[in-house]
Amino acid sequence: CGIVGYVGPKPAIDVVSEALRRLEYRGYDSAGVALIGDGELITEKRAGKLTNLTEAVSARGGLTEPRTGIGHTRWATHGAPTDRNAHPHVSRDGRTAIIHNGIIENFAQLRAELEGQGIEFVSDTDTECVAHLLAAELDGGVDLSEGMRRVCRRLQGAFTLLATHVDEPETVVGARRNSPLVAGVGEGEYFLASDVAAFISHTRDAIELGQDQVITIGPDGLTITDFHGESAEGVPFHVDWDASAAEKDGYEYFMLKEIAEQPRAIADTLRGRFDTSGGIILDEVRMSDQDFRDVDKVFIVACGSSYHAGMVAKYAIEHWVRLPCEVELASEFRYRDPVLDRSTLVIVISQSGETMDTLMALRHARNQKARVLAISNTVGATIPRESDAVLYTRAGIEVAVASTKAFLTQLAACYLVGLHLAAVRGIKYADEVAAVVAELAGTPEKISQVLEAMEPVRELARRMGTADRALFIGRHVGFPVAMEGALKLKELAYMHAEGFAAGELKHGPISLIEAGTPVVVVVPSPRGRSLLHDKVVSNIQEVKARGAAVIAIAEEGDDVVAPHVDHVVFTPRVPTLLAPLLTAVPLQVFACELAAAKGLDIDQPRNLAKSVTVE
Ligand code: G6P
Repeated sequence: CGIVGYVGPKPAIDVVSEALRRLEYRGYDSAGVALIGDGELITEKRAGKLTNLTEAVSARGGLTEPRTGIGHTRWATHGAPTDRNAHPHVSRDGRTAIIHNGIIENFAQLRAELEGQGIEFVSDTDTECVAHLLAAELDGGVDLSEGMRRVCRRLQGAFTLLATHVDEPETVVGARRNSPLVAGVGEGEYFLASDVAAFISHTRDAIELGQDQVITIGPDGLTITDFHGESAEGVPFHVDWDASAAEKDGYEYFMLKEIAEQPRAIADTLRGRFDTSGGIILDEVRMSDQDFRDVDKVFIVACGSSYHAGMVAKYAIEHWVRLPCEVELASEFRYRDPVLDRSTLVIVISQSGETMDTLMALRHARNQKARVLAISNTVGATIPRESDAVLYTRAGIEVAVASTKAFLTQLAACYLVGLHLAAVRGIKYADEVAAVVAELAGTPEKISQVLEAMEPVRELARRMGTADRALFIGRHVGFPVAMEGALKLKELAYMHAEGFAAGELKHGPISLIEAGTPVVVVVPSPRGRSLLHDKVVSNIQEVKARGAAVIAIAEEGDDVVAPHVDHVVFTPRVPTLLAPLLTAVPLQVFACELAAAKGLDIDQPRNLAKSVTVE
């Protein structure tokens, strides 16, 4: 879901349409615009892709006159993705238009109240009640900004709202609570958007809004207040990437570009992190070394691919730091009343820094006095802002909905956090940790080698397109990689795929295997931990005996595995704990190619959103 507002000298439809295209990556299932032209509110909204909206706009002559507009891409929460439920929502008098991201939790009460006043709802959304509430305030004689503040005071939940009104034709008002909203400041023009990608081709000067603030952009510039009208300040920042970073650079899909960027992204994330005394430099630290030493338990909390990165982190942190470490899905964490106190460190991992499940888990942890360290790819997003320490991944903007380079950089960041904890708390395996630091520096080059050898994986993926399911198995850090490989295939190829701990296979999932069922096995290094390797080779034999088509991801030089499998993809040698940086890559390529062979939408798979700002 994406949101954009514009006031300035350019045709608003052009600015808004371009912004919506740039926000497409966030995922959506319908889109709409509202423009203020010549004393009249013009709206157009359509279910489906942006082209449906663009065609509707063209059919109305292009609508290039208006200079003020708002636009929205919706990811359905209340009500199916239909034309009717798409935003904007308009008041009964047709003079006020509203767009909204998030969920208004007290919407049922508000709707009942409005229906009690005789207002008929024309959609199934929670948003429509805001349009009616706002219109009522404006009828009472206040301006759009004050009307918005009054309405916001009545709303519960998470929202970014933008509003326009025919009586203030050069004004857009925005409000935010818990959902993202940034302002862009150009020459004689202003933008409001869910993220800077929306206006990056017009300006790189942006203002970050705080919690519970209302912003007005218009002929008098930009004003910010809290929900009670007290003047407030935003935090100005300059965006250091440009529009070309958000373009495909000749790749057919953003996902392919982002997969290819991984060596650079990992190198950037690692750059300048190591201080001379063997410590790790975090980006923001609002807690002392003593606080880190006082930690007696770690929870890692995240969703989706970020959760899989967290699973890998658990292995590294427990082994290097000797602290108990649990990994938990953010959506489950706070509801089971976890035992947290001031000596608990909660590591939250969120590419977007805005995922509502993760944000709520973070707030719960902080309320219980736990310290929170965030790993995020988005500078200044809500999650890093509310954390006690932050390590930013430097993946750059990730446009494809399915995470690749962001996931890989999260792994690198997790290793850095593990090394940081080891350094401040005294290192148990000093030699091993020193070796890891050196090995980490070499991983970008090794990821490049993996990428160069992907043609057989693509070929295999094209041939596997007819399978109706696939299993992924691994042990140790290969287990989360298997989970991530299965998630990628589900997300992109709409194929039933599951990742399992290889040892768990015999306790149930093995019954799924029929002749020809593809089973992808993430094989551990044959060195050192050979016990683990032996066990995985046994698991391969178990599935093979039941007719599976086995694809192994194995370490270069592993000649034990090859005779037992149908296909093997080799990745360079690295210490076991770092192997996911390499073994995840062929699985990304596999899922992407398989989905492409099926003709599916690689960058925006159905039903998915890049940044899920609802719980
Ligand atoms: C969504 C995305 C996933 C992502 C997850 C967590 O579900 O589709 O790709 O892994 O959110 O996102 P975050 O921004 O918190 O890492």
